[in-house]
Amino acid sequence: MGKSEVLQEVEVKLPHLRYTIYIGRHLLHDAARLQAVIPGTQALIVTNQTLAPLYLDRLREALCHIQCQVVILPDGEAYKTQASVAKIHKALIQYKHHRDTVLIALGGGVIGDITGFAASTYHRGVACIQIPTTLLAQVDSAVGGKTAINYPGAKNAVGSFHQPCAVFIDVAMLDTLPEREFRAGLAEVIKYGVLVGGDFLGQLAHVLLDKQALPLLIAQCCRIKARIIQQDERESTGQRALLNLGHTFAHALEAVTHYERWLHGEAVAIGLYCAARLSHNLGCLSLADVNQVDALLQHAGLPRRIPSDISLSAMYELMYQDKKVQKNKLRFILIKKLGECYVEASVSEQDVMHVLADAVSFT
Ligand code: NAD
Ligand code: GLY
Repeated sequence: MGKSEVLQEVEVKLPHLRYTIYIGRHLLHDAARLQAVIPGTQALIVTNQTLAPLYLDRLREALCHIQCQVVILPDGEAYKTQASVAKIHKALIQYKHHRDTVLIALGGGVIGDITGFAASTYHRGVACIQIPTTLLAQVDSAVGGKTAINYPGAKNAVGSFHQPCAVFIDVAMLDTLPEREFRAGLAEVIKYGVLVGGDFLGQLAHVLLDKQALPLLIAQCCRIKARIIQQDERESTGQRALLNLGHTFAHALEAVTHYERWLHGEAVAIGLYCAARLSHNLGCLSLADVNQVDALLQHAGLPRRIPSDISLSAMYELMYQDKKVQKNKLRFILIKKLGECYVEASVSEQDVMHVLADAVSFT
């Protein structure tokens, strides 16, 4: 059994609450730290059929002193639905969970989003602890309080803002994560690099694949995200929208391939290349900077180009379904220079089609 150690802590300070993101190894063995953030004497763990055999017993052991129920969902985005939320609410009601209960999400972004949403609606909002188990969830989805479920043809259509009361990021859990999933998470790390530039971006080429560097790297990503959330928790002033860099392209790529071809992070990687290329075409970003972003994506082993069988006009149509469409205008996050991004609402159809064509791979 590995020794529990917290290596980094990140504070998220909001006007209405603050919480800590603990980053370390074997955190489930630190029962005292977990217990310290549990508000009452009840908890409900939500996990899936893949994670349960790996980590559930350890988490239950840490909570053995309180009433603890478990909901184990099937694995997959296909289960990020109202039916899964209903299962969670049913268990909470059946076992008489009160307003001071806590829901604990043990899983990747899918479990985190479902659990957060269920917590935000049970008794008009109960506490939620996030224990993210994928790199993508550790650097992005478990932090910041966005929750959502899907409806047919409408990803993340129903959701809420509901901040967790604590986040436990255990890098040792990444040892069981499939390599492809790990690399998909690196796309979000590279996204932060493009957003903040400077030393953080500069070091990425050296540390991206270095497992020893992970706790610090994850903490740096969480700090960047925390800073943005603190400025714009509900994506109302435009700061938080910057976190969607590359995502307008990515969501269209995912939708046009019915969410079957790429993992989310892989689509984000292609989207980052498209965003960099569009920024260059519109006269902002130098070609050298586009190439730097491209080289990082390549180093991480991520896809960077749109395969030639994808219909670019279908992609363009799908972009209009993006949540970032306002007043019927497509909004893109563009890169003025590495470390400085902004929201642009006046990109013409011609410019978008041009960049999509530029990003097509004919190999
Ligand atoms: P995921 O939750 O589907 O996890 C990917 C796969 O890895 C699953 O099969 C899972 O069971 C498995 N897995 C997870 N951790 C593991 C581990 N430690 N060992 C072995 N297997 C493990 O995918 P994801 O990429 O984590 O999350 C994607 C979801 O996150 C999408 O639904 C997306 O919409 C959402 N998301 C939300 C936000 C937000 O801010 N709320 C941000 C980004 C993405
Ligand atoms: N993943 C984007 C956000 O949290 O706003």
